[in-house]
Amino acid sequence: MSVTRIFSGIQPTGDLHLGNYFGAVRNWVELQQQAADTIYCVVDYHAITGGIDADVLPGRTMQLAGDLIACGIDPERSILFVQSHVPEHTELAWVFNAFAAFGDLSRMTQFKDKSGRAKHVSAGLFTYPVLQAADILLYLADGVPVGEDQSQHLELTRGIARRFNQVVGQEYFPDVQTLLTEGKRIMSLADPDKKMSKSLGEKHYVGLMEPPKRVAKKIRSAVTDAGGEAREDLSAGVANLVGMLRFAGQPEAAQQYAEEAKRGDLLYGHLKVAVADAVVAMLEPIQERRAQLSDDELSDVLADGAQRASAIAAPVMDDVRRLIGVGRGR
Ligand code: TYM
Repeated sequence: MSVTRIFSGIQPTGDLHLGNYFGAVRNWVELQQQAADTIYCVVDYHAITGGIDADVLPGRTMQLAGDLIACGIDPERSILFVQSHVPEHTELAWVFNAFAAFGDLSRMTQFKDKSGRAKHVSAGLFTYPVLQAADILLYLADGVPVGEDQSQHLELTRGIARRFNQVVGQEYFPDVQTLLTEGKRIMSLADPDKKMSKSLGEKHYVGLMEPPKRVAKKIRSAVTDAGGEAREDLSAGVANLVGMLRFAGQPEAAQQYAEEAKRGDLLYGHLKVAVADAVVAMLEPIQERRAQLSDDELSDVLADGAQRASAIAAPVMDDVRRLIGVGRGR
């Protein structure tokens, strides 16, 4: 693989779910073995664009950072930190506001979706991908492991970097690569035509820290089709369950169920039990590790992460100020 520095982020807006895990976080863990540097961030400044809740956000931020460690992010090997602990993120985002095109931002499908649902459409929701570009480029990262829903934001990131380089007359920021997985788009259990997301509501996702009984119940209630008829393609719901079985480590069983479904003789109850068992077994060690992690340990990890992140971010921000002619020290 040709990337040298990986950066990715996740919003502390609710439970970490299977979509996050199969689409992104598991790849974050694997990339720790493959890339020289891996930097992972809980993006609390992104979370406020959807609404402010000062009583809830700090707890969610800590919870998510702990969940990431439980998933296998190793704070010795990777830098794990909270976005707001490194103020250069927002500073660079402001600079990038001068490079991002209004027209490009208007075309972001996530903005269109979210603004369609929001009562108060903040300007922050609109410039959200500019902050995302700043997150990545502040570390001169060249590889970004994400789910498919983030591809458009990364295209925008490339555009901002190119424009910046062109304006300052220097190849300063790298071209970032989008790193997708096979599980790049996990669908909702209750509405398999939509992607799994925390904002759709409880029955749409499986949270990584949910107790086994609840996980099994949610999977049992997953929407499929009526079944019993031979068909060329799997329905969205069945394809999603088969995919989950594969990603949870049972590719042969997944293949077999897919063939049965195509022949029209799959008993959906069997598939659901297999998926539930596989997912519960996969989550067990993650939940165990989570239970062992203390808040004090976590605070130390995040303090150390912020320090290591700042050591990379500060000189980059110095360069940026110099290149655009602002700040002291020219
Ligand atoms: P967020 O917090 O919505 O999701 C975190 C990661 O999980 C992936 N993901 C999915 N993958 C497959 N199937 C799904 N149903 C699914 N749902 C979520 C997302 O693609 C993402 O990789 N804007 C980002 C956070 C961010 C970021 C960044 C990412 C901020 N700065 C810099 C990369 C680099 C977001 O809201 O992700």
